[in-house]
Amino acid sequence: MTHSLDGKEIILGVTGSIAAYKAVEILRELTGRGAAVTVVMTESAQRFVSPLTFETLSRRPILTDLFALDYDKQIGHVATGGRADLYLIAPATANTIAKLAHGIADDFLTNLYLSCTCPVLLAPAMDREMYAHPTVQENLTRLKARGVHVLETEYGELASGLIGRGRLADLLTICGEVEGLLTHQEDLQGETVLVTAGPTQEPLDPVRFLSNRSSGRMGFAIAQAARDRGAHVLLVSGPTSLPTPPGVTRTDVTTAEEMLHAVLGQLDATTILIMAAAVADYRPSTHAPKKMKKQESLTIELLRNPDILAEAGRQKESRILVGFAAETEDLVSNAREKLQKKHLDLIVANDIRVGFGGETTRVTILDRQGQVEELPELSKREVAHQILDRVVAVRRGD
Ligand code: C5P
Repeated sequence: MTHSLDGKEIILGVTGSIAAYKAVEILRELTGRGAAVTVVMTESAQRFVSPLTFETLSRRPILTDLFALDYDKQIGHVATGGRADLYLIAPATANTIAKLAHGIADDFLTNLYLSCTCPVLLAPAMDREMYAHPTVQENLTRLKARGVHVLETEYGELASGLIGRGRLADLLTICGEVEGLLTHQEDLQGETVLVTAGPTQEPLDPVRFLSNRSSGRMGFAIAQAARDRGAHVLLVSGPTSLPTPPGVTRTDVTTAEEMLHAVLGQLDATTILIMAAAVADYRPSTHAPKKMKKQESLTIELLRNPDILAEAGRQKESRILVGFAAETEDLVSNAREKLQKKHLDLIVANDIRVGFGGETTRVTILDRQGQVEELPELSKREVAHQILDRVVAVRRGD
């Protein structure tokens, strides 16, 4: 059986955060996907989790000592850095991030950062106030400017009991990012891909809105996959709680009108438009400035929202246009009609009884030549790559 990370050498750097125990799961997931992993720990990481745990699971010695020769009798940090395909530091503490940003190399992990030539991916984890501190943010910006890939932290409950941003990114997000960085093709180089994602919210009054259950995951997965394949990626997102994939330029919008302006404003620069957003078809005709009072009954007049994709279809030129069709019945015939009506190259039809809001989805992809391809239930990342494979085929004129 083949695995997605077969033959890949990964260094997993673990620093002294309470989230260090999650690095054990990361190690298991990466080795499960076929990677060979060498674990490097800081002094303080060893106070949170025993090196023996990592040693047992990775079946390799743990590198901690700057002054020891490694198992091949070479200078450890130089030899290890030379062998690796990726250096993942998860969790990365504020202290380690500061050292990396300034070239301080006082332990094995930070020396390795300076001596390795492979891509570096950081997954920060710390308390809310530390993560928000301008010093930490400045250090992260500095590292990103040097090409280090930095995952956003997640929002939620922290070890301190505070609620906020600072939690280590989720296991599957980290491993998905690793996979993206290590298995990319460059077949979208030179393209600017604009992806829309998430729902729109159409306000009724200052506290209420009309919306739908879209999570934004499909659009974010496409943005990340397009970036991995070398495209310049613009993401226009409705309200979601998802982190921006590193290297992607994101514009946040709330309503369909705002999404229309954000898309049309960037259309000239766009060579491929993928409309994965679940745009609300209607908006309330009035937006009350104050919270509406309870009444015995209430009738709300709804107006049709602009159709962003149809508008982009009218200005198509050589741009490739991909739409989505979320349906509960007559999937293929409805999708085929939309493909024609909106001047699309491809349409991705999904039965919303499977994919909406979840981690996996089952889609059928239709093209202008009348081909209908029904895919099995797959992760949204895999579906994203399947869609992009067909976009590349359209570009080549296959
Ligand atoms: O016609 P329907 O809403 O089913 O078409 C879905 C496709 O059109 C999706 O790609 C969606 O992002 C896009 N759309 C749009 N503007 C709207 C409604 C849908 O761009 N107002």
